[in-house]
Amino acid sequence: MTLVGVAVGAALAAVALFIPWLPESASEQADIIDSVYWLVTVICVVIFALVAGVSVYAVYKFRARPDDLDDGSPIHGHTGLEIVWTLVPTALVTAIAVYSGVALAQAENLPDDGHRVVRVTAEQFAWSFTYPDVELENGQALTTGELVLPVDEAVEFFITSKDVLHSFWVPEWRMKQDAVQGVTTRTVVEPTKLGTFEVICTELCGLGHAIMRSQARVLSAQDFEAWVAEQRRLAAEGGAVQGESLFTAQCGSCHVLADAGTQGQVGPNLDDALADADEAFVRESIVEPNASIAEGFQPDVMPQNYGELFTEEQVNGLVEYLLEATGGG
Ligand code: CUA
Repeated sequence: MTLVGVAVGAALAAVALFIPWLPESASEQADIIDSVYWLVTVICVVIFALVAGVSVYAVYKFRARPDDLDDGSPIHGHTGLEIVWTLVPTALVTAIAVYSGVALAQAENLPDDGHRVVRVTAEQFAWSFTYPDVELENGQALTTGELVLPVDEAVEFFITSKDVLHSFWVPEWRMKQDAVQGVTTRTVVEPTKLGTFEVICTELCGLGHAIMRSQARVLSAQDFEAWVAEQRRLAAEGGAVQGESLFTAQCGSCHVLADAGTQGQVGPNLDDALADADEAFVRESIVEPNASIAEGFQPDVMPQNYGELFTEEQVNGLVEYLLEATGGG
């Protein structure tokens, strides 16, 4: 039995060492957070091995022999042992608390040479991101449905919710922060890797919680500036052009639309759903989506407040673009 136990333990340990337990690390903060994770894991593994080892030894060493019908001798406690098993865990838990506190302070520390601010707004069941330092021609700050950031620049996120509790999380960046209505929470991330990552809502928030996702694209500083310039141009252009960029950023994660090349499967395929639609229907579907629900889909999954979130000009642009793209109108 002991040999089998040792063999199985060794095999499992070997497997455990080869499993990538954590997502890719793609921010300054990720390595700090991971160090906390591994510290706690190592402490747990050592304690578990110790307790399991002593238990197995005691079961073997002090087992009742076949001819032993005794009640066993009474036990009156062991002051020395009790002091040890109180002090050791106290020291370990205190060490974990101090280490975590220092790690969190370090992770949320902003560099002295400036940083970017992005405001994150969560709502059932969508994300929007506002860049207060990018002012568009119409005087509004740039707002998008996908998060786009330059690499190697610290970002301070101010996070809030329009309705229930949500939580902002990009696994590769590790930092996770609640979105609470009426409260502004903050977190800091400095992306260190180019690429596209998923923004995930990680607080159960209702019917659409599982699909409350967006994407975070990390670009080189140069590509980021080009993206910002493109957003400015699209906003200035207005009409269907602005509508298309808004659609790709805000609607494409949930809807298929051939013209925009989007693949979202959460809501109806718009090439079908809007094929014979007139302007009034398209507008209603954006600002009051519960008014008419496509067959096989549920009400209340699509946010009900795009009419307030978007300016009238943006809604007009979206309607114009959707009519063009689906051949309706
Ligand atoms: Cu929002 Cu879960």
